[in-house]
Amino acid sequence: MNDEVGAPMERGSGAEPTAVAREKIAALYEREAAAFEAAHPASREIHERAKDSLLAGVPMNWMTRWPGSFPVFFAEARGASVTDVDGHRYADLCLGDTGAMTGHSPAATVEAVEERLRTGITTMLPSSDSIAVGEELGRRFGLPRWQVTVSATDANRFVIRLAREITGRGKVLVFNHCYHGTVDEALVTRRDGEAAPRPGSVGPPVDPSMTTRVVEFNDVDALERELGAGDVACVLTEPALTNVGIVLPEDGFHARLRELTREHGTLLVIDETHTLCCGPGGYTAKHRLDPDLLTIGKPIAGGIPVGAYGMSEAVAERVLDHTVWDAADEGGVGGTLAGNALSLAAIRATLCDVLTEPAFEHMIALARRFEAGVDAAIAEHGLPWQVTRLGCRAEYMFAPGRPRTGAEAAAAFDSELDRLMHLYMLNRGVLLTPFHMMALMSPATSEEHVDAHTAAFEEAASELTE
Ligand SMILES: Cc1ncc(COP(=O)(O)O)c(C=O)c1O
Repeated sequence: MNDEVGAPMERGSGAEPTAVAREKIAALYEREAAAFEAAHPASREIHERAKDSLLAGVPMNWMTRWPGSFPVFFAEARGASVTDVDGHRYADLCLGDTGAMTGHSPAATVEAVEERLRTGITTMLPSSDSIAVGEELGRRFGLPRWQVTVSATDANRFVIRLAREITGRGKVLVFNHCYHGTVDEALVTRRDGEAAPRPGSVGPPVDPSMTTRVVEFNDVDALERELGAGDVACVLTEPALTNVGIVLPEDGFHARLRELTREHGTLLVIDETHTLCCGPGGYTAKHRLDPDLLTIGKPIAGGIPVGAYGMSEAVAERVLDHTVWDAADEGGVGGTLAGNALSLAAIRATLCDVLTEPAFEHMIALARRFEAGVDAAIAEHGLPWQVTRLGCRAEYMFAPGRPRTGAEAAAAFDSELDRLMHLYMLNRGVLLTPFHMMALMSPATSEEHVDAHTAAFEEAASELTE
């Protein structure tokens, strides 16, 4: 067992786990929803007003996906705490779904950004910070050539284009229940063995089976079969799935993935946007993966929008050969604000002074504490649930065994328990990432933040099983 992935905990009692009664979940939700509404009059009032000018009363539609009948509006976020407009203070284990894995407004990033705000935000010229950024990304991830984008989504979009361009192949292979941002090729699900639009995918441009092959994570036979078609430009994957709960790679999976992609002339793209949680060089450095390209975004600029992609020397040469320099601004790779000076100053400060090796040690130790607390409560109350940790990220699922594939993880999803637990936590001053039961640690997170969650989790487990 490697040291950054949580081992399944020993169970003491050996008792059969008990399922939770649906009526109990419904009754507790009703109680918690009433408590939420009573405690958040200012958020409710702002939301009502916001509906006049914003679609659904929020600046981005997924912000409605918090539990409760309206979203909580925040007033201030500092370190690992958030204060809302009603004056409630929360231990923030959501951390902007990894965008704020640095903690909110880390001092070093703020200082660098403030300086840059006064001395030029965006110019169309490269800034000298970009050199330090390229060198540091190269040192961390082992890939020598980098480009900077506005988001991780953009990084993924651009590497797909580049992979298509240099291999002359049309398709991308992704794993079922992956998420790589709003990337058309990856917004798919597996239906009858083929890629089909994911439920809720808005206006898919073409039938995704034309662009994408999709197999289950850890299914090496299916991977071999699909790559054998010879039309896959790149495999795009997280090293462990993190967006459908955590699905860890089985022993030997990454070695086989690398062998098969090489054998079939397919490029391997590793998306480290979330798995940076494993350490300064993400899962890739920790496990010595050897991708052709790597994408990242979210926390590397401390919350300032940014993404980046790196490539091997061999890929860089092919990319340079294929670049039509006269049309580089219109080739489908770029963006006016991509590589802007503000983002680069923010990445430089964040990588050099915030997301450091000692910071990760602190964060991973806290995630272990979180995992142990949740696991103890699960065992104590005989719940058929489990918790999985990946570096400084931990997630519990309402099913007993660890999933091997995205499909297994999705099947374990329980929307009623999910919304109850999110609201239960929120009402007790703890924010967990909406959409799933994910908790993330930042350099500013403390044992008190973790213990606040453990106490609320213990209380919920007790109420659900009494
Ligand atoms: C693994 C992964 N890659 C890429 C993205 C896209 O990030 P963004 O929405 O910041 O572009 C996400 C977003 O959740 C992600 O989880």
